[in-house]
Amino acid sequence: MSHLVHALGHMKINTTDINGVIRDATEILGLHVTHRDDRQVWLSSNGRAAELVLIEADENSAHTIGLEALTAEAVREAETRIEAAGCRILSSEPSLDCMKAGVTFATPEGLRFEIHTPIRNGIYDRRHATHGVGPNRMDHVNLITPNPEATRRHLSAIGGMKLSEQMVNDSLSWMYGGNRQHHILGIVKGDVGLHHYSFEFFEFNDYLKLGDLLDRSDKQMLWGPGRHRPGDNTYAYYTDASGAMIECSGQMALVADDDDFTPNVITNLERPGNVRCMNVWGTPAPLEWREYHFPFAKIA
Ligand SMILES: [Fe+2]
Repeated sequence: MSHLVHALGHMKINTTDINGVIRDATEILGLHVTHRDDRQVWLSSNGRAAELVLIEADENSAHTIGLEALTAEAVREAETRIEAAGCRILSSEPSLDCMKAGVTFATPEGLRFEIHTPIRNGIYDRRHATHGVGPNRMDHVNLITPNPEATRRHLSAIGGMKLSEQMVNDSLSWMYGGNRQHHILGIVKGDVGLHHYSFEFFEFNDYLKLGDLLDRSDKQMLWGPGRHRPGDNTYAYYTDASGAMIECSGQMALVADDDDFTPNVITNLERPGNVRCMNVWGTPAPLEWREYHFPFAKIA
């Protein structure tokens, strides 16, 4: 079984300002709250029971990156590979009661992942009343790791994820899963953390709506809109009340043919001459984006 990991499953975030993050997620991005208890709030852009999970905490940090496998058998298969890959199992139970099976593990770099079965989904429950933009789905996460080569090795050995593209100096690389989207994980080199998580927009006009909604809240885009070369997706970025950076992404290129696919290596690292190797429309990344760092929660 290759591609045990199929897609991005969910993202869990610790925050000191849960109401501020909910306000940004519902009134700007257009998510809806699906569950709330005294510890957690779940939000979704569609019929899935949870895509973004907020945990009330005394810090703002990334808690867990959820990766979706299609079956409980695939989750159990991934579980058998964790220790051999040099990672540590933290729990063999699903973290949310909207999934049948899950296994949570830590990597030596300080990242925490859960590989879990698909989150309960109402397929005809995609649209909800909102004044926010209303994206299609949560589609990818860019994590930050001090050792990209090791992180890719773990994800590949445990979840069957594959490299889709990389910078020659390994400052950025991208991995895909069973849904063939150019990347469900971006791997940034640096102190362990989260660079951004992303929701997929339906159409380009959504960026106009996003910009105006940010303005109404006296906020602004951090970068974009533009089109990335790696993944070929459109993008815009902003930050929310927790300090996490959120990307609003257009549909990505697909790796349609594994057998004939060779991961591209970007060799031109010279700024600003390489701008169109990175961003199709020639809009360079601001320093704030390049150096963005949202911490990952310490793992006991
Ligand atoms: Fe991204």
